[in-house]
Amino acid sequence: MKVEEKIKEYEKGIKKVLITAEEIQAAIKKAGERIDAIYDGRPILLVSILKGAFVFMADICRAVHVPCEIGFMCAKSYYEGTQSSGVVKITMDLDRDISGYHVVIVEDIVDTGRTLNDITKILKDRNPVSLRVVTLLDKPSRRLVDFKADVSLFTIPDYFVIGYGLDCAEKYRNLPYIAEFGE
Ligand code: PRP
Repeated sequence: MKVEEKIKEYEKGIKKVLITAEEIQAAIKKAGERIDAIYDGRPILLVSILKGAFVFMADICRAVHVPCEIGFMCAKSYYEGTQSSGVVKITMDLDRDISGYHVVIVEDIVDTGRTLNDITKILKDRNPVSLRVVTLLDKPSRRLVDFKADVSLFTIPDYFVIGYGLDCAEKYRNLPYIAEFGE
């Protein structure tokens, strides 16, 4: 298969662009201003939940102006496909004690809510000064546990979405926009 054919095959999974790169950047700018207003000059620790939030983290950390440190955790709840396994597993933990920090969890999507429900409980037990959650996407129609992010940039319908960090079987994370996945 030629390179062009391979790329075309890959692009078949991109059914429809739902949120453009420009719309994402405009929303991030506003979210950064909101975070600045909430913390009012106090230092924060941004905690990104990998892998999905890695692109959002890179942009949101540059949109805030309060003193800022960053940290990473890895949690998995979906494996090789579009169905939730119903299991949230922390596969990589933070490298520091978060007591004394205003912690802001940076997530790409709240779907059933299980991942953030579990992670916020785990982090609250570690006694941060405060704990808030910012999510790029929210799919409230899929919620299985009662969870609400403090800052949510886009509410979306129940589409399987890819791009801007989100994957389907680990592919499409590099797209600069959010698209509906379809074959
Ligand atoms: C996705 C996403 C969230 C979680 C949301 O992660 O990044 O962390 O699912 O789903 P929930 O609200 O139903 O718990 P995933 O487990 O697919 O791992 P990834 O970030 O490595 O893609």
